[in-house]
Amino acid sequence: MNSTKATAPGKIILFGEHSVVYGQPAIAVPVSQVQATCTVRENPAGDGILLIAPDIDRREYLSAAGDGDPLALAVRRTLDALGAGAPPLEITVTSTIPIACGLGSGAAISAAIIRALGAFFRHPFEPQQVSDIAFEVEKIYHGTPSGIDNTVVAFAQPIFFVKGQPIERLTVGAPLTFIIGDTGIKSPTYKVVGDLRARRSENPAVYDSTFARMGALAQEARSAIERGDAVSVGRLMGENHAILRELGISHPLLDALVGAAMDAGALGAKLSGAGWGGNMIALATPATASAIGAALTAAGAVRVIETVVR
Ligand code: MEV
Repeated sequence: MNSTKATAPGKIILFGEHSVVYGQPAIAVPVSQVQATCTVRENPAGDGILLIAPDIDRREYLSAAGDGDPLALAVRRTLDALGAGAPPLEITVTSTIPIACGLGSGAAISAAIIRALGAFFRHPFEPQQVSDIAFEVEKIYHGTPSGIDNTVVAFAQPIFFVKGQPIERLTVGAPLTFIIGDTGIKSPTYKVVGDLRARRSENPAVYDSTFARMGALAQEARSAIERGDAVSVGRLMGENHAILRELGISHPLLDALVGAAMDAGALGAKLSGAGWGGNMIALATPATASAIGAALTAAGAVRVIETVVR
């Protein structure tokens, strides 16, 4: 029986989370150590489209899933784009990306579904098409997403991203080793983005000038990454974290993990993603990576992932 499988990686944001929602540039990279996987095959029972997500104990027909259901929406939008109607299918989704932790789980699940369905119907999508369909689903997860998550997981490479503009691939002058520390605190992106939006609406000039400072950091970081200047990248990460703290996006455990990473020799550290929980990242060298990972675990990280950006 015809069966297709596709994957999509997780992601971290190196610079510019939140300010990217307001038109400032940001930098994100894929994290291939975690991934979402989707398998599509004909439904042997032949009685509709069956969605199976064993990680969350879900087994449900698409016809029973509501309009606001992100999994179902990804399937429906993709079948529409393929002009495929509603053939009897069994669609199974699994993921090793922790949910609501800033690692792009929602976008990766969508991208895996879109790619697997495209492959099943022998119509492989271009990364931009994967990103566009995933963006429709992101609007349910995030409310007002910038589009950075769906773009980085669809293209699966380092990107310099400005909302609404064509993707720019980022050249990495020398490999960068990042240690990701997970607080284990779930923090849905839409809540943090919504809270910041409400606060900004009270005082747009002040917030916009803060966002512009973050945009300038992302620009500076782009040059540092391109010329392989890890020391400058680390310094800029620290400055970005300080601004995110000012904005009330951090959390005591995120700050503790950032401090522990710096004490263990990181070149820089910051929260990554929506904040209020989720993940932080530390820039290491091959020599300091394991000490930084151990320090993060000792300081309370529930999971540590090492990833090298090239
Ligand atoms: C979430 O990964 C990044 C945010 O900037 C939201 C967005 O860009 O849509 C917090």
